[in-house]
Amino acid sequence: DIMKDLMGLSQLQDKVKEKLGIKKVILVPGSFEKNNSLLTDVAKYGAEYFLNTLKDGDTVSLTGGSTMLEFANCIKSDKKYNSITVVPARGSMGKDVQMQSNNIVSIVSNKLNSQYKLLNIPDELGEKAMKTLIQEPEIKRTLDYIEKTNVLVFGIGRADEMAKRRKLPSERIKEINSKGAVGEAFGYYFNKNGDIVYKLNTVGIDLDAFRNGRETIAIFAGARKAEAFIAISKINKNIALVTDEESAYRILELL
Ligand code: F6P
Repeated sequence: DIMKDLMGLSQLQDKVKEKLGIKKVILVPGSFEKNNSLLTDVAKYGAEYFLNTLKDGDTVSLTGGSTMLEFANCIKSDKKYNSITVVPARGSMGKDVQMQSNNIVSIVSNKLNSQYKLLNIPDELGEKAMKTLIQEPEIKRTLDYIEKTNVLVFGIGRADEMAKRRKLPSERIKEINSKGAVGEAFGYYFNKNGDIVYKLNTVGIDLDAFRNGRETIAIFAGARKAEAFIAISKINKNIALVTDEESAYRILELL
């Protein structure tokens, strides 16, 4: 591929950054699709960037998933961050406890020696139950922190895969697909233009908090997710993206 031979990694970073119009792009050489162990490198680069951006008093929100679990495992620090509070970006979910944001928050806050708050609320609840739960003092306290998020680190999913992973009923999967959803992040499903076409009935970070954070770090590995990321990048340009080289080429192809 001529384009690939001509373009060095740092030029590729600049090109993708410029095309997407986002704050920063950090690339790991290689292709996750060909070599799945690249997930660890992507997570490691993400963890390093994250540590460099932290400031006293920050409120850090983290999402769940396998990428974010790897991110948590990659954090290495001797410093004590006692003025920082780490929270899950939204209600936790599912049967896989390891990949839940609460678990990821606990790993990260342990490594940072920071404060943390958990959010013990299911991913999806009925309207009424939700209203009652968010008045619980402990839950309310965590939600107040989430609202103050200034550093967000999050994973990205393809809309189709996330709808399946969450075991949504087939009519809802159809609905999400028919609305043109391509990407998912923190419970929101986005179409190509970055419009929200579907949202889980959960609590946690809202779009304003997503847009207003000082540091918003998206981490994903794999060209399959490129389209999903492009959609999400439409609504917030203040994003630092950490991904693999192959995904960067895929983004350029799609733009
Ligand atoms: O379910 C939490 C979440 O962060 C989703 O918002 C995202 O789409 C997904 O996990 C990414 O998961 P993975 O890193 O395992 O692909």
